[in-house]
Amino acid sequence: MCSPVENGLPGREGQDGRDGPRGEKGDPGSPGATGRMEMLDVPKEDNSSAGDPGLDGNLGPPGPPGPAGVRGLAGRDGPSRIQRDVGPQDISALWRQLEALQGQVRRLQEAFLQYKKVELYPNGRDVGQKVFKTAGFVKSFYQAEQMCSQSGGQLPSPRSTAENHALQQLVELENSGAAFLSMTDFWTEGRFTYPDGASLVYSNWAPGEPNDDSGREDCVEIISNGKWNDVPCGAKRLVICEF
Ligand code: GAL
Ligand code: CA
Ligand code: CA
Repeated sequence: MCSPVENGLPGREGQDGRDGPRGEKGDPGSPGATGRMEMLDVPKEDNSSAGDPGLDGNLGPPGPPGPAGVRGLAGRDGPSRIQRDVGPQDISALWRQLEALQGQVRRLQEAFLQYKKVELYPNGRDVGQKVFKTAGFVKSFYQAEQMCSQSGGQLPSPRSTAENHALQQLVELENSGAAFLSMTDFWTEGRFTYPDGASLVYSNWAPGEPNDDSGREDCVEIISNGKWNDVPCGAKRLVICEF
């Protein structure tokens, strides 16, 4: 749209643009101040368009109250766009775009929550940022570990009562006795760790466990009462993955 020649002319107004900084300080604390900072920086980088900031400086005074939020969006889009978005029509257009985006976000949120409910029914549980989901069948620890990682997840590492309770619910739901957890004392007998090697921050061992029965129990199961027991890694247990 704007030819380099046109930009060159406003470039002279750029001297006025130096007045812009004062307007910027006039917006202490408001988002508008940030947007104006970018507007001033831009002309310095683009010689031919230095004049534009001068115009922004004039708009500065009214800017602080309402338009501030709009300017925040423009800031992301980049310098060149900010320079053009100085007219009232542009502001109105931005507001319409903002409202349209808000509507899109709202519809996405609703759709996401719907699909989340579908996904969690009946064999999934979400706790905070985590989602646990059971495959509904039993595998050895190694097979279960592989299945979870192939799906982008991992075996469950319950780090709180709430997470442990969610896993307990899935064990009860499947009526399969017990499920594998992620932790092992494979490297150092008696020292159970998460897959990343870190020590446990939470545990819920059954009385007398872990006991490394017969010296062969390096994996962990969670049973239907929520308690943990160390078992042989070759045992077959319900597969639950953590995502
Ligand atoms: C079982 C448990 C085994 C072992 C055993 C000891 O209930 O599953 O891992 O601890 O008790 O008697
Ligand atoms: Ca052990
Ligand atoms: Ca045991």
